[in-house]
Amino acid sequence: MSERKRAAVFASGTGSNFEAIMKQDDLACDIVLLVCDQPDAKVIEKAENLGVKVFVANRKAYESKVAFEQGIVDALKATDVEWIFLAGYMRIAGETLLQAYEGKIVNIHPSLLPKYPGLDAIGQAFRANDTKSGVTVHFVDEGIDTGPIIAQEAVDILPTDTMETLQQRIQAVEHKLYPTVINQLINGGATS
Ligand code: GRF
Repeated sequence: MSERKRAAVFASGTGSNFEAIMKQDDLACDIVLLVCDQPDAKVIEKAENLGVKVFVANRKAYESKVAFEQGIVDALKATDVEWIFLAGYMRIAGETLLQAYEGKIVNIHPSLLPKYPGLDAIGQAFRANDTKSGVTVHFVDEGIDTGPIIAQEAVDILPTDTMETLQQRIQAVEHKLYPTVINQLINGGATS
């Protein structure tokens, strides 16, 4: 039997996607590291409760973005990480990280890309009175939410929706879609 793949999740905030990935019974890889750039992020406590090693990557402790990302790459390599799943990681991947993990970095975004890349995607769709939003999982390149799309799932925006209810339904879709796509990738489905 071949060895299980090892992966890291990168997150900066609440970590509901991290938790959903961790709680997926049949996840095809082991999440062996959480990389977090915010020392006070709630996701850190979630990782500790789930027994996942945490690497707090403090940008201010490094002279440059290259050195910062090299510090992360060193931690990933030391843990034999092969895949990176971004889940609310609020930094743009630079070439140090992209080159070290070419074709192996994936992100989830709460819109039907290419619509509404970047911040506040749910709010933008809501305020524009769109009737449809959704979730995209995509490979990461040097742009902001621009890499090749792996999977998308639409979510209707109902006339009765508030920002909060819309966000809840989008996140519920994220929590199912991301582990499913991770399993497809690990089991040799989509490639960049
Ligand atoms: C998610 O909506 C994800 O799509 C976006 O950031 C959010 C993170 O939420 N990239 P959480 O920290 O996983 O709850």
